Amino acid sequence: EKGGFEFFMDKEIEEQPAAVAQTLLGHFDGSGIVLDELRLSEDDLRTIDKVFVVACGTAYHSGLVAKYAIEHWCRIPVEVEVASEFRYRDPVLNRDTLVVAVSQSGETADTLEALRHARRQKARVLAVCNTNGSQIPRESDAVVYIHAGPEIGVASTKAFLGMLTANYLVGLALAQARGTKYRDEIAREYEELTKIPDAIATTLTLMDPVRKLAQEISTAKAILFLGRHVGYPVALEGALKLKELAYMHAEGFAAGELKHGPIALIEEGLPVVIVTPSPVTDPLLHSKLLSNIREIQARGARTIVIAEEGDETVAPFADFLIELPKVPKLYQPLITTVPLQILAAEIARAKGFDLDKPRNLAKSVTVE
Ligand code: M6R
Repeated sequence: EKGGFEFFMDKEIEEQPAAVAQTLLGHFDGSGIVLDELRLSEDDLRTIDKVFVVACGTAYHSGLVAKYAIEHWCRIPVEVEVASEFRYRDPVLNRDTLVVAVSQSGETADTLEALRHARRQKARVLAVCNTNGSQIPRESDAVVYIHAGPEIGVASTKAFLGMLTANYLVGLALAQARGTKYRDEIAREYEELTKIPDAIATTLTLMDPVRKLAQEISTAKAILFLGRHVGYPVALEGALKLKELAYMHAEGFAAGELKHGPIALIEEGLPVVIVTPSPVTDPLLHSKLLSNIREIQARGARTIVIAEEGDETVAPFADFLIELPKVPKLYQPLITTVPLQILAAEIARAKGFDLDKPRNLAKSVTVE
């Protein structure tokens, strides 16, 4: 059942193009985005004036990405919060609030309790979930299923890419209901999304050098991850994967925060992974990241740079360069996450750890 792979996780990483393609399937009917089980009218969606995304772990990181897309497309404020914090701080909720609960398993207790709390306050609840018939979708007003297929590895990979995809669909559906995007713009976004599975497949073919790098840095005492904009949640996700799988100290930062503290951690030989935006679609942030990379390299750290193919400006400052296919700015996490998953998996393998069952962790966390 592992299909010739050593671990389920290896197989699930390879299944990511299909996970994204399956999640997109059937969500565009020629004139607009359609969600799965929608017990909310277009009118209900139109009056939404605030969105909260609540989730845990990797699902939370998918929500952080969603914030950039939903705010950009829908012009409504989006807050993203770990479910265990949301519920206990008395958030301001009402009928016009949409709470998006994201969960692979659909059984995570923290997320479920957060959504129950939201419902008691009359907020509308939409679930993004990979497991049919699980509790979180059962208790929601609307559901968008991630069609990633069963995920066995405790560390989430293909479900994460599925969540990102489903979250984009939620954002586009909201933009459609609110009229903040024209129908043809929405059709174009969907069209761009349908091209992503091929870009992920291409990315997967480029990973052998990353596997080699993982061997080399598997004895490092820590690894830092930096990113900006949608690259920031990707950095957080890369760090989480490394902690879970390789039991290594890892931290993700917003690159702009570097000079506000974390730069003190930079030392000779420390591997630092930098998720760089596109110089074409995001020249302003690209130039800021470039100066971070130079600073880090100048202090003797080992710069591992994830960049868009053809980005010549970063090459001189990258001790190791990972060039990935060009995709629209908001969709980059669907591509840039892949090398970070491989990096964590290969470091864990080099250390002889079980990729499917990291110590102390359970696939679904059903207690608060
Ligand atoms: O099933 P869920 O998506 O609700 O699970 C949430 C987290 O427990 C989960 O993402 C966890 O962080 C993973 N082990 C990450 O790889």
